[in-house]
Amino acid sequence: MLPSAQLAIFAASVVLFVPMGLAGLHLSRTKMLFFSGILFIFLFVAVHLAPYFLSISHLLLASIFFPSPPPYSLLPPSSCLPFLHRISWTHVPDPAWSWDPSAPVRSCGFQSLSNPDASILLNGSWILVAGDSQARLLVLALLRLLLDPTSLASVEPDLFKRHSDYHIAIADRGIKIDFLWAPYERNITDLLARNIQPVPPYPDVMVLGSGLWHMLHFTNSSHYGEAVNGIKEAVFSLRSPVLPHMFWLGLPTLISSKLNTPEKRERMTDARLEAYGREVARTKILRQSGGPLMLLDIRWLSRGCGSQCTDDGMHYNGVVYNAALQIMLNALVIESQQRIE
Ligand SMILES: *[C@@H]1O[C@H](CO)[C@@H](O)[C@H](O)[C@H]1NC(C)=O
Ligand SMILES: *[C@@H]1O[C@H](CO)[C@@H](O)[C@H](O)[C@H]1NC(C)=O
Ligand SMILES: *[C@@H]1O[C@H](CO)[C@@H](O)[C@H](O)[C@H]1NC(C)=O
Repeated sequence: MLPSAQLAIFAASVVLFVPMGLAGLHLSRTKMLFFSGILFIFLFVAVHLAPYFLSISHLLLASIFFPSPPPYSLLPPSSCLPFLHRISWTHVPDPAWSWDPSAPVRSCGFQSLSNPDASILLNGSWILVAGDSQARLLVLALLRLLLDPTSLASVEPDLFKRHSDYHIAIADRGIKIDFLWAPYERNITDLLARNIQPVPPYPDVMVLGSGLWHMLHFTNSSHYGEAVNGIKEAVFSLRSPVLPHMFWLGLPTLISSKLNTPEKRERMTDARLEAYGREVARTKILRQSGGPLMLLDIRWLSRGCGSQCTDDGMHYNGVVYNAALQIMLNALVIESQQRIE
């Protein structure tokens, strides 16, 4: 009979390599993402059990993934989604965030994903981000996580070319990222119709969001609501067999004293921001009202970081978008597990 530790390692290898083999041989890239997710969760659980295994399995798994084993037990993943935004901020020396250490959040075991974790999770995926400058800043946060500083320095000028699209393929991990400049809701609706064909490949992850331009140039919140409703209808008419994982990038907190033109100070008010938020809620495009898109609540995150995190009253320091990105990645880990249940 095998000693239990060897048995455990054998079981671990089966769980580890069988899905990888299947995914590599037979399944679409979308499935790859799910399997990568399972793999990630498996490693997570393995680390959890590591003290009971041989020290070698601990070395192999824990040292690669988590420097110290997480001290909590896992909740059923779906019940953790509502806790993803429970983060708190410290401001000394610099603004930094972490998940709330209180009981329900802690037991979800959210992890800020490192470069290797994220590379495994997103391996083989196509990520499409469409929106305004907030969306561009989210893409920057993603590239900061996935690229080394030298590669990052060379892509940044292209990413920040004013009012333009941006595309990058990270060949060694098969990750494709598209940023599509879509400052108005109508632009997002159009590109959903244009870019997502009824034939593969389909994006695995989509992040959509706009509103600042509308607020500045139209100011009419019910008109905005209609436009966002148009995005929702375009999402429902996507013809890919499996809907991508979809996120809505919410509007930021506006610091009116820092807004840099008189028009912005006059038009981009708190009251209007509230009204725009209510309109998004009314469209039921968001998961919390039964829709398909999960909110990345930039307003909440930027408020936590505070007015010292913005120079122009609407674009925030990288740390805010990093928080949004990590919330998104943890949601993907959770959803990858749910889809195979
Ligand atoms: C990504 O997946 C491919 C095979 O599908 C594999 O060869 C490669 O090592 C993976 N990369 C990472 C970083 O996991
Ligand atoms: C976005 O929409 C506006 C207004 O409909 C249009 O003028 C502009 O050309 C569009 N931009 C892109 C990038 O499609
Ligand atoms: C605001 O937009 C709505 C919906 O498009 C429209 O019916 C209404 O007349 C607009 N209000 C103003 C003041 O333009």
